[in-house]
Amino acid sequence: MKAIVLVGGEGTRLRPLTLTTPKPLLPIANIPFLERQLSWLASFGVTEAVLSMGYLPDAFKEHFVGDRFGDMRLRYAVEEKPLGTAGGIRFAAEGITERVVVCNGDVLTALDLGAMVAFHEDRKAQASIYLCRVDDPSMFGVVPTRDDGEVIGFIEKPPRDQAPTNWINAGTYVLEPEVFDRIPTRVNVSIERETFPRMVETRGALYAFPYDGYWLDIGTPEKYLQAHTDILRGDLGEPPTQSATEASPGIWVEAGATIDPSANLHAPVLIGAGATIGAGATIDNSVVGPNANIADRAILRRAVVHRNARVGEHSEVADSVVGAEAQIESSTSCVDVTLVGAQARVLRGTQVSAGRVAAEGQ
Ligand code: GTP
Repeated sequence: MKAIVLVGGEGTRLRPLTLTTPKPLLPIANIPFLERQLSWLASFGVTEAVLSMGYLPDAFKEHFVGDRFGDMRLRYAVEEKPLGTAGGIRFAAEGITERVVVCNGDVLTALDLGAMVAFHEDRKAQASIYLCRVDDPSMFGVVPTRDDGEVIGFIEKPPRDQAPTNWINAGTYVLEPEVFDRIPTRVNVSIERETFPRMVETRGALYAFPYDGYWLDIGTPEKYLQAHTDILRGDLGEPPTQSATEASPGIWVEAGATIDPSANLHAPVLIGAGATIGAGATIDNSVVGPNANIADRAILRRAVVHRNARVGEHSEVADSVVGAEAQIESSTSCVDVTLVGAQARVLRGTQVSAGRVAAEGQ
C-alpha cells in the first residue's frame, strides 16, 4: 500500500522551533515525529510514501539519506506554492493509480489502520475518514454520520453546546484514485473544507471510521509538550525509543548518558544518548535530547530539551521547550510555555515567561 504524508505546512504555531526544522522533523521524545509516523505506516504494510511538501523541503531530503526509511521507499512532491491539503494530495498523487492512505504530518495516533482499510473495503467507499472522539469539539471539524458510517455533513468548529457529535476529523484518510479526479490541479484546495463536503452529495461515496484510541495533534506548544508526557507514560504502548532502557520505573536512559548520582529524577523521564546531567539537578517529567547538557542544580519540570542544547547552573525550564544547540545560561528561568529556538541564547539571569526566543538573524 502507498501513503501520502502532508508535511507542507509552515507550523507557525510552533515558531521559532519550526523556523529551522519543519514540524514533522521536530523530535518527539528524541525521535523525529515523521519517523514515528512512517514506522506506524510500515507496521500496516505501507511500502512507499510520498512526502507532500513545500516548506523547507531540503530538510526532509537531507534527513532521509538515500530516499529510504528502513524498507520504505520515499518520494518527494515539492509544491512551488502552498496547495492546501487537497491540492497537495492531488499533486503528490500524480502517477498513482491505486488506493492510498493520506495522513497529516502532525497527528500522533494509535489508530488500527488495518481495521480502517477493512471498513473502507466493506463499504466500497471512495474515501474514508478516520474520526476520533474529543471532549470539546469546538476547535475541530465535526463529522456527523449515518448508522453505517456514511458521512452526512461537516461542521467546522461548532460551539461546544451545539455540536451534534464529539467525533472529529482526525486527519487520516483512505482514498481511491477517483477522489484525485475530484480535485483541480495546481490550485489551493482544502480536502476537509472543499473536497469532502462536496462528496457528501454523492450517496455511498464518503464514509467515516470511528476509532476511540490515542490521538493527538502535536501542532501547538501545549500539545507538543503533552505528546512527550504521553509517550513517556506508555500511552502509545511502546518504550519511548528503541534504544532506551528503563533504569527504574518510568526513568528511561539511552546509551552513553552520564547522570550524576546526586541528580533527582522524577518519572516519567527520558535522558538521551550522550547527555550529561549535573550534580543536584532535578529532572521531572521531562525529555533531555542526545548530547544535551543539564548543568549542576538546574531544574527541568515538564520540559523538552533538544539535542546539543545546554541548560546552565541554577537555571529552571518549566512547561517549555529548548531547541537544538540552544544555550540557556546560568541562573535564568524559562517558564509557562516558553519556546527557545534552535541555537538561540537566553542570557544569564534572564526570566522568560510564555516567551518566544529565536536565534539572532532568524
Ligand atoms: P500552523 O501554521 O501552526 O497552523 O501549522 P501547519 O502549517 O502545519 O498547518 P496545519 O496544522 O493546519 O496543517 C495540517 C497538516 O497539513 C500538516 O501536516 C501540514 O504539514 C499539512 N499542510 C498544511 N498546508 C499544506 C500545504 O499547503 N501543502 C501541503 N503539502 N501540506 C500542507
